[in-house]
Amino acid sequence: MSKRIDIDWGKLKYDYIKTDYRYIAYYKDGKWDDGHLIEDDKISINVGSTSLHYGQECFEGLKAYRAKDGHIQLFRPDENAKRMIRSCKRLLMPEFPVDRFVDACKKVVKANEDFVPPYGTGSTLYIRPFIIGVGGNLGLKAASEYIFCIFVIPVGPYFAHGLSPVNFIVTDYDRAAPNGTGSVKAGGNYASGLLPNKEAHDKGYSGCLYLDAQTKTKIEEVGAANFFGITKNKAFITPKSDSILPSITKISLMHIAKEYLNLKVIERDCYIDKIDEFVEAGACGTAAVITPIGGIFYKNKLHVFHSESEAGPITKKLYDILYGIQFGDVEAPKNWIYKID
Ligand SMILES: Cc1ncc(COP(=O)(O)O)c(C=O)c1O
Repeated sequence: MSKRIDIDWGKLKYDYIKTDYRYIAYYKDGKWDDGHLIEDDKISINVGSTSLHYGQECFEGLKAYRAKDGHIQLFRPDENAKRMIRSCKRLLMPEFPVDRFVDACKKVVKANEDFVPPYGTGSTLYIRPFIIGVGGNLGLKAASEYIFCIFVIPVGPYFAHGLSPVNFIVTDYDRAAPNGTGSVKAGGNYASGLLPNKEAHDKGYSGCLYLDAQTKTKIEEVGAANFFGITKNKAFITPKSDSILPSITKISLMHIAKEYLNLKVIERDCYIDKIDEFVEAGACGTAAVITPIGGIFYKNKLHVFHSESEAGPITKKLYDILYGIQFGDVEAPKNWIYKID
């Protein structure tokens, strides 16, 4: 029996599953090779690789969606490609060109198309591209060889029971320093987030909310997602900071809020002492799409936005439009959707 027949699409979580193919390209002597698909899900690298010791690694995360008519589509993969180029620049790694990135995503999804969950299950195929510095090295310098690789895994919907709000707690730990690496998707950013995230879970919260490291007064990120709030007068507000990872979901929601819902959209400082200015709040990202935030625990008090049990009306509308675009049920703005032939 093939393994795909064993998959219960409605019960998928975010666990590793070996799909049929991965994409791999090698960088050596100053250039990337042509890249190809591999069946193995192991790679062998030198013990002195910079990715292992100095965290010279960056990654991306996007999804492939099965539409109602059965075709498969990607959501703004060119934006992930461009963000990965920014990550590479910051970490002194060779850039993987945008057109090659998009083409590689399409190839690996096509090769694993039986693993793209059926329409209507809410499940998707998660795509994880990454670049690592490899080759023998000991001194603290950039590697001279790299691997670009993509693997894919079918994943379940974030909400098993619909769009239900979760609570976050403000952490004392910092995620990113001004002029640090917070605005790029460097692996090291996530290693340092494991402890604050665990502490938040241990206290019964879904995750932690990070404040800006310099003044500890402004909201930066909620776990591995961007924050947005809706004010009483129906403005979509999201923090502006050079140490936040620019979320592709967030920039898409800013467009949807303005063009589809006619809301005022503002990127500006969001002070934690003034969170009561928001009547709804959410965390947004590829995995969560939108997670409504029930409340935020700060200074011994849980500040509840709309409700702890139900998403607010604007959050619901934003979610429905974004989800509809991603699965092909709502017309997308030009160049957001890349169909896989
Ligand atoms: C720290 C952080 N912020 C925000 C996001 C959301 O970004 P995106 O919408 O591009 O998935 C992610 C996930 O990629 C993330 O890791």
